[in-house]
Amino acid sequence: MTLKSSFDFHTQIDRLQSASEKWDGREKVFGVPDALPLWVADMDFAAPQAVLDALHKRVDHGVFGYTFRTPAYFESVVNWMRERHNWTIEPDWITFTPGVVPALAFAVEAFTKPGDKIAIQTPVYPPFYNIVRENGRQLVTNPLAATEEGGYEMDFDDLHRKLADDVKMLILCSPHNPVGRVWKREDLERLAELCAKHGVLVVADEIHADLIFEPKSHIPFASVSEAARDNCIVCTAPSKTFNLAGLSVSNIVIPNDKLRLSFERTVAKMHGLGSISTLGATATEAAYTYGGEWLDELLGYVRDNMEYVRDQIAEHLPELSVRLPEATYLLWIDFRGLGLSAKDLMQFLLHKAGIALNDGTMFGTEAAGFMRMNVACSRGVIEQAMEQLKTAVAECREGK
Ligand SMILES: Cc1ncc(COP(=O)(O)O)c(C=O)c1O
Repeated sequence: MTLKSSFDFHTQIDRLQSASEKWDGREKVFGVPDALPLWVADMDFAAPQAVLDALHKRVDHGVFGYTFRTPAYFESVVNWMRERHNWTIEPDWITFTPGVVPALAFAVEAFTKPGDKIAIQTPVYPPFYNIVRENGRQLVTNPLAATEEGGYEMDFDDLHRKLADDVKMLILCSPHNPVGRVWKREDLERLAELCAKHGVLVVADEIHADLIFEPKSHIPFASVSEAARDNCIVCTAPSKTFNLAGLSVSNIVIPNDKLRLSFERTVAKMHGLGSISTLGATATEAAYTYGGEWLDELLGYVRDNMEYVRDQIAEHLPELSVRLPEATYLLWIDFRGLGLSAKDLMQFLLHKAGIALNDGTMFGTEAAGFMRMNVACSRGVIEQAMEQLKTAVAECREGK
């Protein structure tokens, strides 16, 4: 147990009335005011103290004019990628957008035309679907193959067939949300080879890359081969790692000059996004420079929460099953043993168990009966959620 840590993850911060999507937004989304919110992928923890100090200092300056990225900013990103991911990048490769989802949309706009085919690997983060469809591109799904042990693998035979049919882009989720996979080097190499062969550009969403549990390590897509490096847009951000999503910042790494110039033209010239958020830049630099130790302890705390949920399920909830993910603070729980439809399961969890999770069908129709549970909150909230769930399932067994 690492519940005792030098950083305080244990005291639940009251997020009510902070315009929090996860807490204040749940009534609008779920229609219930008080279900424990274990849905939106942000954390209930404060950012590292060094980030708060840097932000305070910047706010005290009082002037928030247009801001550029300083050499120290680039250095912090380059050092983080080298130290955490053994990935050497050049400062010139780093461009920015106000978030990873906007970067996916800009990439679709910059590198494909209406009607073009774009592949995604389902079940996957819902904006992947929307961005393809709402931009008038054709969605091609390459469903992940469920293994007998309850895990997921890429289905390369299906992928090969589909990419060969004039697909222009693949949006990769690495590590994968919601199934928590860290893709192996062999997977990424094979993917890179297939995509290069069929002229498919890879947009790698690596926003969860820092939230990895040992012994796994994240392998940046661009690092697996020269062919991969020349054929990708890698989307990174400090937002999941340090809980900075509201500061709208991301670092989009594009080693290929031609691709980067096209991307930047779309972002800066066509959409006029020329200047980074002042506070976003301040927070990013401080987080990447000073946040390593905080992150290591955070991962221990989150892992403990995950093991607690897994053990509670194993001991008390035989209808459910869950595996510890290799990455992310999200559990992907199989509720199919309860024998409820996706709609009834959601109602059961909201109204009987009093917990708000993300419905698996948001991520893909194949995921009916699964739920995504965010455990990046204090242990007290997780314990309460599990008590409520156990009581509700016991009543369900008794036919109440
Ligand atoms: C895979 C993935 N990409 C992107 C995002 C959000 O990115 P941003 O807030 O930077 O737009 C999330 C948030 O949950 C995510 O899981």
